[in-house]
Amino acid sequence: MQNPFLAKGYLLPMFFCDREKETEALLSNIQNGLDTTLISPRKFGKTGLILHTFYKIAEEKLPFSTLYVDIFATLSLKDFIKTLAEAILVEFPEKTSIGNKFMALLKGYRPVITYDPVSGMPQVEFNFSAPSEKEYTLKGLFAFLNSQKQHVVVAIDEFQQITTYPEKNVEALLRTYTQQMHNISFVYCGSKKSIMTQIFADAARPFYSSTRQLTLDKIDADKYAAFIREKFLPVAVDDEAMAYILEWTRRHTFYTQSLCNEIFKMKPRVVSVAVARKASREILETEVSNFLQIRNLITEQQWRLLIAIAKEQSVQSVTSAQFLAKYQLGSATNARRNLESLTEKELLLETVGLNERSYSVYNVFLSRWLEETY
Ligand SMILES: Nc1ncnc2c1ncn2[C@@H]1O[C@H](COP(=O)(O)OP(=O)(O)OP(=O)(O)O)[C@@H](O)[C@H]1O
Ligand SMILES: [Mg+2]
Repeated sequence: MQNPFLAKGYLLPMFFCDREKETEALLSNIQNGLDTTLISPRKFGKTGLILHTFYKIAEEKLPFSTLYVDIFATLSLKDFIKTLAEAILVEFPEKTSIGNKFMALLKGYRPVITYDPVSGMPQVEFNFSAPSEKEYTLKGLFAFLNSQKQHVVVAIDEFQQITTYPEKNVEALLRTYTQQMHNISFVYCGSKKSIMTQIFADAARPFYSSTRQLTLDKIDADKYAAFIREKFLPVAVDDEAMAYILEWTRRHTFYTQSLCNEIFKMKPRVVSVAVARKASREILETEVSNFLQIRNLITEQQWRLLIAIAKEQSVQSVTSAQFLAKYQLGSATNARRNLESLTEKELLLETVGLNERSYSVYNVFLSRWLEETY
């Protein structure tokens, strides 16, 4: 029997909890020709939301072609163009008439095209000799999508990656091209909030104010509980166990899914709090070597700061005398520097509220492990 708690990817609406408002908002932007910026911390479900929305578009036969482009692994504009071309090849296979036209266009740029023998996925290698060739090719790819009969939705996942490209003016270039494509709606997705905000909310930058922002929050507790209960049926979930599951994983989607997956794997007759606790212990045991790896990558003081924040769950005033003394964290200056470094490394999650900002250990499992181990 399929484990209904996915810990990666997207499969079917039945395995996807809620996000109804967000799906509707995204769909409405698409239908009204608006571009969207989708931001949330890592593993909250951004990619899931995009794929869920694309699934609905296909299921309801809405008049859109959808294209998902993950640029996480790209290091340059050249990689970006390659990834975009590969995504188009996947969406429009050569045997279809659109795919056939695309292949003809693509061959004009004289890339080397190969197919992975195992996955069958296309691989495109361009050989650009001048920057203008890159721009020409990029524009050509967008123009191709723009010329389709059906409106095209292009979701670019991990969009903040473009700020690391060595080529000059990538943002301006992308902004110029994307603005010209009236038959394409873009969804820009990213987890590095500060970088995403800089790209889209800084008046001095090309993408300023060009999109509608959609922020993904935690899934509503009641809705998540109802989803979990339904997926465990006919096995019952105790109230106490439910409270534990949602609390221990802080309702951070990936961690909640992982714990439920582990509990389901144990095939309990009833999901009691004892069962849930046992599952959480099992998870932490399998993760210990990863946690120790993290310790090797940071300084002793940073590790201590991580432990202190884990023990407090969430901390607002990391440099307060009281907090520093309680956990012997040294000077405020050092603590601030360590805080910045850990946030930069995505070991700490910074949550910005209206009047305050707070910090928690990003990886919820690491947080729980630090809390009980030290
Ligand atoms: N609404 C949901 N219901 C159930 N499971 C979900 C939901 N959204 C996401 N998930 C699951 O949570 C995990 C994380 O989701 P996803 O990969 O979409 O997050 P993300 O925000 O794109 O993460 P990242 O920032 O690392 O790319 C996945 O295992 C996914 O299957
Ligand atoms: Mg993602």
